[in-house]
Amino acid sequence: MHRLVPVLALVSGLAACGPEDTDDLCDREVPLTYQSWGQGFVHTHCNGCHSSIIAEGQRRGAPLGVDFDTYGGVLQWVERIEDRTIIAGQEERAQMPPGGGPTAEELQMLHEWIQCSVYPDKQEWGGPE
Ligand code: HEC
Repeated sequence: MHRLVPVLALVSGLAACGPEDTDDLCDREVPLTYQSWGQGFVHTHCNGCHSSIIAEGQRRGAPLGVDFDTYGGVLQWVERIEDRTIIAGQEERAQMPPGGGPTAEELQMLHEWIQCSVYPDKQEWGGPE
């Protein structure tokens, strides 16, 4: 039974959106942060369409205001970011970016960064305005 617990935690974590029990996930010695990892990830994989400096006609359909070029934008949209980048099973790829790109390992690190760093920061953050 004991060995099943992390597996169940992972499965439920992937199925649901929002903060989860992170005891097993968040044991990296130097945690992933926006500065050390997240900013580079969204810059590479998301900001080409989701950036406040990209004009309406250049966003390739990304909704106006759904911008991840600041940490405030990431905090505001984290639940939706998580929902759209979950790999629901090995056979199904993340919905964002639309053309793919991030490796399974990067998506796993994204999940870890969101759970271990972004959600805790969001709890301390009051929201936009
Ligand atoms: C090639 C352009 C492009 C890239 C790159 C891209 N997106 Fe999107 N994104 C879109 C389009 C188009 C939509 C609107 C259609 C839709 O929702 O599927 C969208 C919508 C969204 C939404 C808002 C809709 C919702 O479900 O709430 C989120 C959140 C999102 N993308 C997250 C991401 C993340 C995270 C990345 C990077 C891992 C990313 N996107 C990369 C084009 C892009």
